[in-house]
Amino acid sequence: MKNELTNDILKVLYTEEQIRERVKELGAAIAEKFAGQRPLFVGILKGSVLFLADLIRACPLRADLEMMAVSSYGNAAVSSGRVRITYDIPTDVRDRDLIIVEDILDSGNTLSFLKEYLNAKGAASVTIVTLLDKPSGRQKAVTADYVGFPVPDAFVVGYGLDYAQLYRNLPCIGILKPEVYEKPDGD
Ligand code: IMP
Ligand code: MG
Repeated sequence: MKNELTNDILKVLYTEEQIRERVKELGAAIAEKFAGQRPLFVGILKGSVLFLADLIRACPLRADLEMMAVSSYGNAAVSSGRVRITYDIPTDVRDRDLIIVEDILDSGNTLSFLKEYLNAKGAASVTIVTLLDKPSGRQKAVTADYVGFPVPDAFVVGYGLDYAQLYRNLPCIGILKPEVYEKPDGD
């Protein structure tokens, strides 16, 4: 059905139902890997919030939950390459098994930085779970341990992912119409 949000979507890549099924599979795989342990989920604000909420409910483990926020993009559709922590985990991660939950692995700048940062803080292990993987964007050699779905070389939004803070509440994942971020005057 067309509405203010879906009007700006060029193509739906993954429907609400497909996401629900995939998140269940990921949750089961993670629960199996960490059975009997007490991992600490680290959700990366804000893009991972919808995915994280569904993933942890699909993952019947004794687990802790913390959030981190990083900024690298501003409102642009292209990564600046700089990563800055704007909200850090308040608890000690030393000797903990961490599960980073991210919305998308694109250039790899964010996740390679976070993995290094958390390892340097003494984490016992750092596992990366990303809802989406855009391999065409990669600038840093970083691989995710768990990937929800691959996405093509296009700007995608929905299910937590934004463009200029919009579209996070779209229940599916879709390619944003380029005219939404490409202004005709090149501004
Ligand atoms: P990376 O550091 O380039 O791997 O990008 C990580 C961050 O860039 C993600 O957490 C997203 O916030 C943002 N990002 C990269 N590609 C997209 C996209 O296609 N749609 C929305 N956000 C994106
Ligand atoms: Mg993000």
